[in-house]
Amino acid sequence: MTQQRTQVGIVGSGPSGLLLAQLLDRAGIASVVLERRSRDYVLGRVRAGVLEQGAVAILREAGVAARLEREGLEHHGVEIAIGEQRYRIDFAEQAASLTVYGQTELTKDLLDARDARGASPIFDAADVAIEEVAGTRPRLRYRLAGAEHVLECDFIAGCDGFHGVSRTAIPPDVLRTHERVYPFGWLGVLADVPPVSPELIYLSHERGFALCSMRSATRSRCYLQCDLDTDVADWSDERFWDELETRLPAELAAHLTRGRTLEKSVTPLRSFVAEPLRYGRLFLAGDAAHIVPPTGAKGLNLAVRDVHQLAAALVAHYRERSDSLLDGYSAAGLRRIWRAERFSAWLTSVLHRFPGRTSFDRGMQLAELDQLVTSAAARAAFVEAYTGSQAEA
Ligand code: APR
Ligand code: PHB
Repeated sequence: MTQQRTQVGIVGSGPSGLLLAQLLDRAGIASVVLERRSRDYVLGRVRAGVLEQGAVAILREAGVAARLEREGLEHHGVEIAIGEQRYRIDFAEQAASLTVYGQTELTKDLLDARDARGASPIFDAADVAIEEVAGTRPRLRYRLAGAEHVLECDFIAGCDGFHGVSRTAIPPDVLRTHERVYPFGWLGVLADVPPVSPELIYLSHERGFALCSMRSATRSRCYLQCDLDTDVADWSDERFWDELETRLPAELAAHLTRGRTLEKSVTPLRSFVAEPLRYGRLFLAGDAAHIVPPTGAKGLNLAVRDVHQLAAALVAHYRERSDSLLDGYSAAGLRRIWRAERFSAWLTSVLHRFPGRTSFDRGMQLAELDQLVTSAAARAAFVEAYTGSQAEA
């Protein structure tokens, strides 16, 4: 058995774990990241792609924003289409913007930064176990190529996503979870075709929601609301583009470029919050603590803000011997998280087709959307939540 010691043991090398390690490193705090999967698997995942200005500022502070600022696409508005009607919501009044940059690319930048510091995550770490978090000497136990390892830590950060082990280290009589599971998913594709329009378009259509997003001027990321039992094998590229064309307003459908898809997958939609975010010396961050449906593009942004908050609290502990930020981590984080949950659940509820919905339910959705596109106050509230300008508060 090999024994090692670090200040912060981090479980998971998604955006949360990698960014936390990077922020701590810049503050002179040592950490070790344990990742169950291989490096190639982590680098190959296709996920979200929209960053709030505040998240970009945090990535800049972490020293990992150079490529994102060069290659990311800055957006100053978003479109909502209701059947054939198109509406543009301008972010300018709030001086807000978003940066479209794939999470896959961000993960690569974060890993490059860790490698450059000689502090790469430990990949393929099997059977990670979290021990003694209620005491003062927590430990991470894991296996690497069959050999057992123990990592002694001051603190443990649970950054291991929704299916990770960290949350289960909180005793059941302490942990409370809040959840809404939606009766549909998103079928997403990535394809090297130009976006149908320069800005993102969220589509509320009789046949179901759709979203046209992008990764660059030549790469599109598009989604269709689908049934939960959808098998991607039943969705040829042609069938996907046919269905998207049907849900697009005619003038946009005329601009749709079809192409071979590079990736195709189904994501179920879920809203989920765990509390507390802290138990003893264990802190949860990112998808380990909460899930939002992707409709508001909040998942990655929440993760970035969680670990920024956690890094600041750990820095205060080591530098100033002050634990007030660590003590306040859960309450402050949950307040920010619930606001993003509210927005994501609301946008999901107004844009999707729910099974068994009545004509009254559809009338409510259309009235909500009508209010959004016609009322300056409703638009301002939307822009504040969608671009995350409110999260600075
Ligand atoms: N031991 C070690 N690593 C684990 C374990 C475990 N038991 N369980 C899960 N992991 C790893 C996963 O393999 C994954 O690489 O933890 C990582 C968690 O990463 P993400 O799921 O990406 O979660 P997070 O880093 O919080 O990222 C936030 O933003 O866009 C959203 O949901 C999207 O991934 C995204 C998230
Ligand atoms: C994406 O580009 O993958 C994306 C964009 C906006 C969303 C969700 C996903 O709301």
